[in-house]
Amino acid sequence: GPRHPQVVVLFGATGDLSRRKLLPGLYHLASAGFLPDCRIVGVSLDELDLAAFRALARQALADFASRPVLDDDWERFAARLDYVPLSGGAPALRHAVDTAEAALGEESRRLHYLSVPPSAALPAVRLLGEAGLVERSRIVMEKPFGTDLTSAVRLNHELHQVFAEEQIFRIDHFLGKEPAQNILAFRFANGLFEPIWNRNFIDHVQIDVPETLGLGQRAAFYEQTGAYRDMVVTHLFQILAFMAMEPPTSLEPVPISEEKNKVFRSMLPVNPEHVVRGQYLGYREEPGVDPESETETFIALKCYIDNWRWAGVPFFLRTGKRLAEGQRIISIAFREPPKSMFPPGSGVGAQGPDHLTFDLADASKMSLSFYGKRPGPGMRLDKLSLQFAMRDTGLLGEVLEAYERLILDAMRGDGTLFTTAEGIERLWQVSTPLLEAPPPVRLYQAGSWGPKSIHQLIAPHAWRLPF
Ligand code: BG6
Repeated sequence: GPRHPQVVVLFGATGDLSRRKLLPGLYHLASAGFLPDCRIVGVSLDELDLAAFRALARQALADFASRPVLDDDWERFAARLDYVPLSGGAPALRHAVDTAEAALGEESRRLHYLSVPPSAALPAVRLLGEAGLVERSRIVMEKPFGTDLTSAVRLNHELHQVFAEEQIFRIDHFLGKEPAQNILAFRFANGLFEPIWNRNFIDHVQIDVPETLGLGQRAAFYEQTGAYRDMVVTHLFQILAFMAMEPPTSLEPVPISEEKNKVFRSMLPVNPEHVVRGQYLGYREEPGVDPESETETFIALKCYIDNWRWAGVPFFLRTGKRLAEGQRIISIAFREPPKSMFPPGSGVGAQGPDHLTFDLADASKMSLSFYGKRPGPGMRLDKLSLQFAMRDTGLLGEVLEAYERLILDAMRGDGTLFTTAEGIERLWQVSTPLLEAPPPVRLYQAGSWGPKSIHQLIAPHAWRLPF
């Protein structure tokens, strides 16, 4: 864990992410002994007093903590909380941080966590500057970082007026998921897979993250954001980079970022003709949603990494709200063998190509599916599967949730699993054709797999899900 006591200044402290992940995550880190000592100063537009903020935090733990909340641990955690409404401006914020630091001693460090929508990021950064809360500080910026190329460049520029690049941690929590890091282990710790990890052996790749969740209380955020900015330009492209990157010279932040950025540089701009935007029926009737909203709650697209390893291999990405199942998979489809000696009707190929699949659920899972002989007379083939689940190894022990892991990394100043200004700007650039000329949204039934045209998008292949 981090060596220094930490003051966490949590912007957006009453928001959805804070209640769902950040407050429960900080609670777990503190009560499981990962933090030397800490104080948490909640900040938001809501005019709450400390008692009301504590009550909100207690409710958040009741609703979302992944482990039982013990009374003693809660009392200790509650004593570490403070709250300032934004209306108090820089002086109130400064006062709250000074008070927290007086309790923690001179060695303490600050972690400013901006859990706010893109439009609120710059005002928060300026407030921190004005309050003189820049030294001994690191700042975590939530995604999406900007809303397009122009705003991301501007945000980076203005951010650098206040904070040095080493202080900035642009978070993408998918990179903190155990299975995401397992992609690197799998690819680079074994001799078996890397030789076939290229266009000669791989037919196409699917990164598929359907969600059953709807908007919850996030209409205001989501209306401005939509599925592409919320999930694709961030999480799905970051995962794509782990899948596609060249071996880094070492597992340090700079070499890893260099290789990821090379993937982003090689990406072809997203072609709007290769994109299906969808919206679930009923979205426009939800509170806080424009009755004529064109915001997409679903997106599927085909993209290409035009480099030596991947030229011509399509990557299909899909994600959306209120879909049939919640899944997070990466599926690699291998090319057909050069010649088939199995008679028609034997079953070969009938269940799609052979696949390697990563499941990004919190505990890693992987499976390799391939054709084998069905027992009995003749030569009939069936799809068989080799499965690996971390859960079955007994190694699960102290799994940290993605946010917990990344908060600790940021406190320690380790940027390995964070994104970079260059990478983000390049991803917005790649996205520009789509953002400038988005195809119209197509409606889909809640509980389905998205608009019908997703099948045309992927033809002659097929979506791997549902299994
Ligand atoms: C968040 C998005 O970043 O990721 C949400 O804003 C989405 O819309 C969530 O539901 C999915 O994360 P996870 O960890 O549940 O897969």
